[in-house]
Amino acid sequence: MTAPVLQVAGLSVEYGTRAGPAFAVTDVSFAVAPGRRLGLVGESGSGKSTTVLALMRLLRQGRIAAGSARLEGRELTALPDAAFRAIRFARMALVPQGAMSSLNPVLRIAEQIGDLYEDHGVRHGRAERRAAIGSLLGRVGLGAEVQDRFPHQLSGGMKQRVCIAMAIALGPALILADEPTSALDVMVQKQVMATLGRVQADTGAGLVLIGHDMALMAHFVDDLGVMYAGRIVEKGPVRRLFAAPRHPYTRMLVDSLPSFRLRGVFRGIPGVAPTLLARIEGCPFHPRCPMALARCRTEAPVLRPALDEGGHVAACHRAEEVAA
Ligand SMILES: Nc1ncnc2c1ncn2[C@@H]1O[C@H](COP(=O)(O)OP(=O)(O)OP(=O)(O)O)[C@@H](O)[C@H]1O
Ligand SMILES: [Mg+2]
Repeated sequence: MTAPVLQVAGLSVEYGTRAGPAFAVTDVSFAVAPGRRLGLVGESGSGKSTTVLALMRLLRQGRIAAGSARLEGRELTALPDAAFRAIRFARMALVPQGAMSSLNPVLRIAEQIGDLYEDHGVRHGRAERRAAIGSLLGRVGLGAEVQDRFPHQLSGGMKQRVCIAMAIALGPALILADEPTSALDVMVQKQVMATLGRVQADTGAGLVLIGHDMALMAHFVDDLGVMYAGRIVEKGPVRRLFAAPRHPYTRMLVDSLPSFRLRGVFRGIPGVAPTLLARIEGCPFHPRCPMALARCRTEAPVLRPALDEGGHVAACHRAEEVAA
């Protein structure tokens, strides 16, 4: 296998709150190979955004408490700020959650993209800059004239494309996309995802896609990590997770899709996720788990490989029975 573009190992992130530390991400590990797509799914508050914000050094009130993250072999957690700023966007770019509302309303698109070039020392003459921005916008399916517009003159789908353009502007080796289509209607979502997929494939970058939508993940990613209460509870090739989930939570997510297993019936997952203000004892999912045993309350399951399949791991004491 080619060396991963990103290798995250044992990452833990805590937020300082008035009630004490909130353990938002606990012992998360994953790798992304060049040209591959990793999805991270999980319900609201499961730590998806925190994970990518930590990688991008964009946490507010939060800190990496443990773990390592290597981008193209370089340890990110140890990098001095100046060196980190040089690789942000250039080697690793984020389409943040709610990206389109983070566009500056008083600047034309050309100025916003231009600032990104300036910040990273990309010098162009005036005509050359216009051409570069026009061609960048063309890569995400937008006309060159979009650079003369303000964000409010663009539709949601167009704004999201601008955000994707900004993420690929400097040719990063890794793209992190945090719910890049969640605010868009279904048709536009499909088009924007197709664009993201195309630019990712064209550039050969690795991609981490965050989302809630299992159906979208099924079509879009190669590998999937399922997050619950700040942990990855199952991960592996996306087809394996859909065909033979080994964690009850993954199984419930898969079963909740109308087109899988139970046609037409949507079943929510009863119960709420645990508070992150205390260390969780046992399996974090046990209070909601239909298969929980006494042992699940006290003994935290670790990620274990499935016997038959490379790279498919689940943290469940009853993994073998879930798949059955
Ligand atoms: N600045 C903060 N201070 C304290 N706690 C925070 C802060 N930001 C996030 N959290 C908490 O950390 C946990 C993980 O949040 P995060 O935003 O990473 O979840 P998420 O999986 O991205 O959710 P969503 O699907 O809603 O975007 C949540 O419990 C959240 O309340
Ligand atoms: Mg989020």
